[in-house]
Amino acid sequence: MFWISAVAILIGICSAVEVQESYHVMKAATYSVGDRPPYMEYAARARYMVHRADWAIINTVSIQPGMLGFPFGNILSISDGLVDNSTGIPYVYLTRFDVSVQDFSVNNNVTMTFTENEFPDINECKPGKISDPESPLCSRLILIGSMANITDATELEFAKKVLFTRHPYMTDWPATHEFRCMKMIVKGAWIIDFFGGGVTISAEDYFKAKP
Ligand SMILES: *[C@@H]1O[C@H](CO)[C@@H](O)[C@H](O)[C@H]1NC(C)=O
Ligand SMILES: *[C@@H]1O[C@H](CO)[C@@H](O)[C@H](O)[C@H]1NC(C)=O
Ligand SMILES: *[C@@H]1O[C@H](CO)[C@@H](O)[C@H](O)[C@H]1NC(C)=O
Repeated sequence: MFWISAVAILIGICSAVEVQESYHVMKAATYSVGDRPPYMEYAARARYMVHRADWAIINTVSIQPGMLGFPFGNILSISDGLVDNSTGIPYVYLTRFDVSVQDFSVNNNVTMTFTENEFPDINECKPGKISDPESPLCSRLILIGSMANITDATELEFAKKVLFTRHPYMTDWPATHEFRCMKMIVKGAWIIDFFGGGVTISAEDYFKAKP
């Protein structure tokens, strides 16, 4: 599918959000949207990752022949808000021809995976002697929830705006493919951003946190 591979081409196109290098000495109260929160400020770190990410991996239980019942991790472009404003809600632009859409139409238990390795300036993620994408210091986040259509006209307008400003190519995607804005209903999260194992985050803490 051309348009599905086209989504993958968007990998690596990161927004030009500036991140302070002294993040590890930053106090929780001093960062603003786009800054990297300190380690173990789990909910804030999660919101920062979702806000800064231009793409994530959506994981569904496959209904496709040949992979029935297997986890299907598909790349998709996301936006949770304008660059200076975050909602914590991953908005997506998808067509019913996308296999992930077909999967979650049958089983709407989905997860979305994020890595800080997506951001070019995170040294802890670069493969090296003391850093790696799998290092606990290279944050990994998994959002847990379900996908939903957007029915409210104001929210639909907002979703279009936040997606199309960060992914201008979307405006050219063919009308015949019936792309529509959708969103993830976040019901919880799991994150690892330091040594000692991952932790779960409640939806309430996630949405309360300052990105
Ligand atoms: C940020 O977005 C929310 C909608 O989620 C809106 O209510 C709010 O006014 C926006 N704030 C700014 C500064 O744009
Ligand atoms: C989806 O997740 C819920 C909550 O964990 C679970 O009760 C339900 O059985 C799951 N649905 C499917 C189709 O697996
Ligand atoms: C979204 O709407 C379409 C068309 O009405 C429907 O087929 C689909 O099941 C809906 N998806 C979800 C996740 O509610």
